[in-house]
Amino acid sequence: MDLETARGRLSRLKEEIHRHNYAYHVLDQPLISDAEFDRMMAELLQLEAQFPDLVTDDSPSRRVGGTPISFFREVRHLEPMLSLDNLFTEEAFAEFYRRVQRTLGRQEEITFVGEPKIDGLAVSLYYEEGIFQRGATRGDGFTGEDITHNLLTIGSLPLQLSESISGEFRGEAFISKQDFLALNRVRESLGLTTFANPRNAAAGSLRQLDPKVAAERPLDLFVYALSRVSGGKASSTQWEALQYLGQLNFKVNPEARKVHGLEGGLAYCRQLAEQRHHLAYEIDGAVLKVNDFADQRQLGFTGRAPRWAVAFKFSSEEAETVVRDIIVNVGRTGAITPVAQLEPVLLAGSVVQRASLHTEDVLRDKDVRIGDTVIIHKAGDVIPEVIQVRKDRRDGNQLLFSMPQWCPSCQKPVLRLPGEAVLRCMNPACPAQLVERIVHFASRRGMDITGLGEAIALLLFQSSLVRDVGDLYYLRKEDLVPLERLGEKSAENLLAELEKSKQNPLHKLLYALGIRFVGERTARLLASRLPHLDAVIQASPQELERMEEIGPKISTSIVEFFKQPETIRVVEKLEKAGVNFDAAEKFQAAGQPGRFTGKTFVLTGSLENFSREEAKNVIEARGGKVVSSISKKTDYLLTGNNPGSKLDKARELGITMIAEEELSAWLMEGT
Ligand code: IVH
Repeated sequence: MDLETARGRLSRLKEEIHRHNYAYHVLDQPLISDAEFDRMMAELLQLEAQFPDLVTDDSPSRRVGGTPISFFREVRHLEPMLSLDNLFTEEAFAEFYRRVQRTLGRQEEITFVGEPKIDGLAVSLYYEEGIFQRGATRGDGFTGEDITHNLLTIGSLPLQLSESISGEFRGEAFISKQDFLALNRVRESLGLTTFANPRNAAAGSLRQLDPKVAAERPLDLFVYALSRVSGGKASSTQWEALQYLGQLNFKVNPEARKVHGLEGGLAYCRQLAEQRHHLAYEIDGAVLKVNDFADQRQLGFTGRAPRWAVAFKFSSEEAETVVRDIIVNVGRTGAITPVAQLEPVLLAGSVVQRASLHTEDVLRDKDVRIGDTVIIHKAGDVIPEVIQVRKDRRDGNQLLFSMPQWCPSCQKPVLRLPGEAVLRCMNPACPAQLVERIVHFASRRGMDITGLGEAIALLLFQSSLVRDVGDLYYLRKEDLVPLERLGEKSAENLLAELEKSKQNPLHKLLYALGIRFVGERTARLLASRLPHLDAVIQASPQELERMEEIGPKISTSIVEFFKQPETIRVVEKLEKAGVNFDAAEKFQAAGQPGRFTGKTFVLTGSLENFSREEAKNVIEARGGKVVSSISKKTDYLLTGNNPGSKLDKARELGITMIAEEELSAWLMEGT
């Protein structure tokens, strides 16, 4: 083929490929099969290889075979990329609306454009004479990172606009829910870590140095704004701008609407909130933008956000999915809980595949069956929970589930003790309990041993290296390296993490030991008042109960826990290994003065949760001083019930008075 014929053929191919690319990625209406498309692309690549001089900037070959970069170049945005103020309630929107009216001095209805707030990543795209030049992340709003190589892999990003205009365009890059789930399935089957949510997957993909990685991740892009554009048509409203962006070949969100007045804006938000589950991509709210650009200019900006737009954020979500199976889980206290194994579903930004059904009674009351369609949400925005069974979706294939009579881990009988809601495996040597105890010990709020999760805990237990948490501190590298899954590097990391954890303050250790009813808060309280593990071990129930929030149930549990022979063995092992048993006040350890350092306290009246002696001890342990009579030098008067004449004296001298609750709060701060 001669040069001129090749030029002609290439130009036709380019045009065809652009057209089909647009039909496929932007319109979602493919006109030809993938195979036909691939054939055209192959021909183009082959011709370009033969005639390198004919390769142009608008060639679809730019999308493939990009070479990796070694670092991200900085790109200064022509115009800063702003963020949006968030609103959470309809009242707040009404306030925003009235403010807009007031600033514009207008009584009549304001027109807005409502758009979904895509939960992806803001990108800036720069075109010159209609040809895509480069694109960048938001960065700090002024300067972003050049991610052109990755953006080129996005099928819906036009390499060439329908008009020869220059300027910056703004949009949101994202991965659809379906593509995200598929991507995670592939990663899981390859033994790779999965992404928590589509946003993270999109962010991770755009920040790859090698465009081949991004090319394997199905990124997409909606464009919603243009700035500093020269040439082309000028729009005078956001609505016109969106239409124009569509004409230029960008993918514009089809859910955008022109809405009028306060009611119109609110109705848009409500309708979008209802619809969000049915959208192909994740959104976390609606964006409402004052439609008229002249009005926008008049409204202007505050700091980093425009006064003419807001993000109306949606509240926590629900999702519908199917119960694949119900299994039982044995916790570290032997509690046996039913867990629903779910068809993976996206919920509030992460993939959910299981939800606790709590107890036998809850399971029965909710009547959850295997094969049921259920509605789930995140309790407290964190823990997935089944809220309702769609009984209308039952087709007779659902299976009833009943709780086992034997522990699934050790096969010993399970019991439901009088007054308890849960079934329990009473075998203290039950493997599942031991493994869960190790996991709890290592958890972030406990000893915070990174890398010691369920899988490794199980491995350590099964290989008989670790029978209780005390054994963890006697692991040697030569024990770990031969273990399947643990290479040399991970073994070293684990040992380093264990070593580091020895320095944790007492409250972390107390929490990590997994004493029943001793959560993080109680652990902090204990450590603040009994600043050494020995003091906790020796404390009588009476002493413990003098602390606010500790009643007979907790005190009995603590006392009983430390009486157990297993506990005594563990504590000995920990002590020998050099694990810190002190409440090592942070401010003392770091040599920094704390609230108490150098301060003089006087006590008056009777305290509810401290004896005088105890109060004195805790203050002095933190570098404070307790004296008996008040003077100008007194910093604080700690006031209990029925205070004496010291109170009047303190008032006279203008001395700060604190109540017992404040003392408790201060004690907790330092631990
Ligand atoms: S407008 C000055 N429109 O939300 C206007 N932003 O919190 C700024 N976003 O950084 C942006 N969908 O990443 C706009 N339809 C939409 C959006 C949207 C998602 C993101 C964008 C921005 C962030 C602002």
